[in-house]
Amino acid sequence: MKFYVMTLFPEMIMNGMDTSIIGRAMKSGIINIETANIRDYTLEKHGKVDDYPYGGGAGMVMQAEPIYRTYEGIKKKIKGENPRVIYLTPQGKVFNQHMSEELSQEENLVFLCGHYEGVDERVLDSIVTDHVSIGDYVLTGGELPAMVMMDSIARLVPGVLNNEDSPVTESFSSGLLEYPQYSRPEEFMGEKVPQILLSGHHAKVEEWRYEKSLIRTFERRPDLLKTYHLSEKDKKILAKYNEI
Ligand code: ADE
Repeated sequence: MKFYVMTLFPEMIMNGMDTSIIGRAMKSGIINIETANIRDYTLEKHGKVDDYPYGGGAGMVMQAEPIYRTYEGIKKKIKGENPRVIYLTPQGKVFNQHMSEELSQEENLVFLCGHYEGVDERVLDSIVTDHVSIGDYVLTGGELPAMVMMDSIARLVPGVLNNEDSPVTESFSSGLLEYPQYSRPEEFMGEKVPQILLSGHHAKVEEWRYEKSLIRTFERRPDLLKTYHLSEKDKKILAKYNEI
């Protein structure tokens, strides 16, 4: 899978991604991240890429031309079908695991990172296929959101994680939050690991984990249960928990 990032801060992207699991996947060639510096594509003097907004107002607007030229440069490399182009903006659809799974099926993805007060709408209209936000708060630019999305998408690409089944058992994929995990020692500051996890009884461990996931979701993210199909047994578990 190949990610192309149009940005004014390519070193921020590379420094952020080139470590740990994603760094390893890049080195082994399973995923590839390429940045394109929008400033390299301006035709104006002194590398200018922004200007005052028509109609007045605070801040500067990123101009259409350098962004369009950057996009054309990427398209030449991709050959074939037009790639999906994701513009990171608080005005976009809010990113979630479902969107991540869908995007992980693409061969190429292009990200456009904006800055200043915005980007000339005409270039957005002409190249962007998806407007995406990573949450209801405002950041200084699209680089961190692009990194968040690439991290989440890349880990779903086969071979990126060592353990092939871990992406599906984790929070959100199942519709529930993940159960609590424990490792050695058996006792830490007087707190013991739940006995069932030491029993070696696989089915009981699975049942315990499922219940913990359900209760944790109910406590912390009850909104997720609105779209989760609760079985009769699930309802009983929650009713019992509510009595306590
Ligand atoms: N750019 C600035 N804030 C953002 C956000 N919350 N999501 C995506 N892009 C952004």
